Amino acid sequence: MHGPSEGVSEETDEANSAVKIVGGNVFVELDPDHPGFKDEGYRSRRNEIAKIALEWNEMSMDERRTKKIPHAPYSEDEDAVWAAIMERITPVHEKYACKQYLENAKKLGLPNDRIPQLQEVSETLEEMTGFRQEPVGGLVHPKTFHTALANRVFLSTQYIRHSSRPFYTPEPDVVHELVGHTAMLGVPEWAELNVLFGEADMRTESEAAINRLGSVYWYVLEFGTCREEGNVKSVGPGLLSSFGEMEHACASGEVEYRKPNFEEMETLAYDVTKYQPILYVWDSFEELYEKTKEFVTNWGTDNDPRKDLHQ
Ligand SMILES: [Fe+2]
Repeated sequence: MHGPSEGVSEETDEANSAVKIVGGNVFVELDPDHPGFKDEGYRSRRNEIAKIALEWNEMSMDERRTKKIPHAPYSEDEDAVWAAIMERITPVHEKYACKQYLENAKKLGLPNDRIPQLQEVSETLEEMTGFRQEPVGGLVHPKTFHTALANRVFLSTQYIRHSSRPFYTPEPDVVHELVGHTAMLGVPEWAELNVLFGEADMRTESEAAINRLGSVYWYVLEFGTCREEGNVKSVGPGLLSSFGEMEHACASGEVEYRKPNFEEMETLAYDVTKYQPILYVWDSFEELYEKTKEFVTNWGTDNDPRKDLHQ
C-alpha cells in the first residue's frame, strides 16, 4: 500500500474498487470502467482474495503471527502478466533504481515467471528486517496503515491487475506491494523510517495533522528520489513498481526536482492518478535517511518547532 491513498501504475485513472459484504458473501465492487469489470473469473478471484483479507483482519495480533497467510488464487494469464512486467521492469531498475533497492532485490529473489504468494515473500522479508507483509482488501485509513507500520507490519494487497491491461492498474496491486515495497522494506534504514512514521502517527490525534504526516510519507517513502554520482535514482516504491513512472521520474526531463523541504511536503497536494510532476531529490540515500529520521522522530514532541501543528 501507499499511505493514505494510492496511485501506482503505468497509467492511472480514477477507477477503483470497494469491498462489500452482501448476504454473508464477500464481494468486490469494481467500477464499470475497471478493466476486469466484465470478467467473471477475475471477479470471483478478487472476491476470494478479499475474503482472505477480511478473515485475516478479524484475527488477533497473536494469531496473525502464528498463522500462514492463505494462498491467493491466480490464473495462468495472471502469472503471465507478472512475467511480462518483470521482463519489462528489470532493465529499468538497472538504470534508475537506487543501489539499496538493487542489492536487496537480488537477495529477495522474486520469481520472474509467476506471482509469488504473500506468505513466502513475507517470510524472506522477516529474515531481513523483521518486517512482515499481511493482507489487506484495499485502501485503509492512514491511521490503520501507520499503526501496522509501528508493529513492523506492512499491509499489502494480494490481487493483481486485469490481464487485458498488463501495464495498467487503477488501484495498488500485488506488483506494487512486492516489486515496489518489499525490497526496500528489507533495507534496515528504510524499515526503521517506516516504523518511525507509524510511531509518529500514533502520537498524532487530529485528522489535519495525520494528513500532513501522510503527505510527507508520500513524498519521501513512496516517491522519494536521491542522487548517485549526479544521477537521479528512484528510492520510493511508488516509482520502483512502475517502469513508466521510473522513466518519467528519472529521465524524461518533465519532472520538477525540488530540494527536500518537509514543511512544504506536508501541504503540497498530489494527484494519485497521475505520474508525479514534482519530486524531492535528496543528495544521497544517507541524507534522506538521516534528515527524515530526525524529522519524524521529533514530530509532535517538544523538540518539534511546529509541535502545535503536529498533534
Ligand atoms: Fe505503496
